[in-house]
Amino acid sequence: MVEAGHGGLTLLIPEDELRAGVATLAREIDRDYATTGVVIVCVLKGAAVFTADLLRILRAEVHRLEFVRASSYGSGTQSSGDVRVTGTLDTRYMAGQHVLIVDDIADTGHTGMAVKDYIRSLGPASLRYCTLLDKPERREVEVQYDYVGFTIPNHFVVGYGMDFDERYRGLPAIYYFPDP
Ligand code: IMP
Ligand code: MG
Repeated sequence: MVEAGHGGLTLLIPEDELRAGVATLAREIDRDYATTGVVIVCVLKGAAVFTADLLRILRAEVHRLEFVRASSYGSGTQSSGDVRVTGTLDTRYMAGQHVLIVDDIADTGHTGMAVKDYIRSLGPASLRYCTLLDKPERREVEVQYDYVGFTIPNHFVVGYGMDFDERYRGLPAIYYFPDP
């Protein structure tokens, strides 16, 4: 279905399905962190919208919210495998904590690998990874994603925080660019 006003974009996951998927993830996370609470590390920028929605429906106690930025040296829509983790994360508060990384999409896996290695080096008590979307066909490195919202085909998607060239992050649903 092509929506008017978002020229050329095709709807992949409508708002109500997104909401239900995020709620399902929240219940799984609640169950696993019910007794320990959790520290959340949001991977900017794409996961900002997802993280904001997830946080507000979690019942497990969130002890802390931190942010990292993962950027690959490549440009455009290809991840180069050379991922830099930067940002404002306060490294003092990861040791001994139950840390959950929250990301928008698992693609080649390079981002997941780099962010996990970085957080692991800070000595958390446990470390898990939550991704809203997964494109398993694209995987280049093996990474364990513990919570996956939606497994999707190999399309480039935008909306709900995700961009193409910084655009479309504000769309409330998830769209893809159909192959020409
Ligand atoms: P990976 O390192 O290849 O797993 O890529 C992960 C990052 O690339 C994601 O966190 C996104 O920021 C970006 N990315 C990958 N696929 C898409 C997509 O289809 N749309 C928007 N961003 C994407
Ligand atoms: Mg990202």
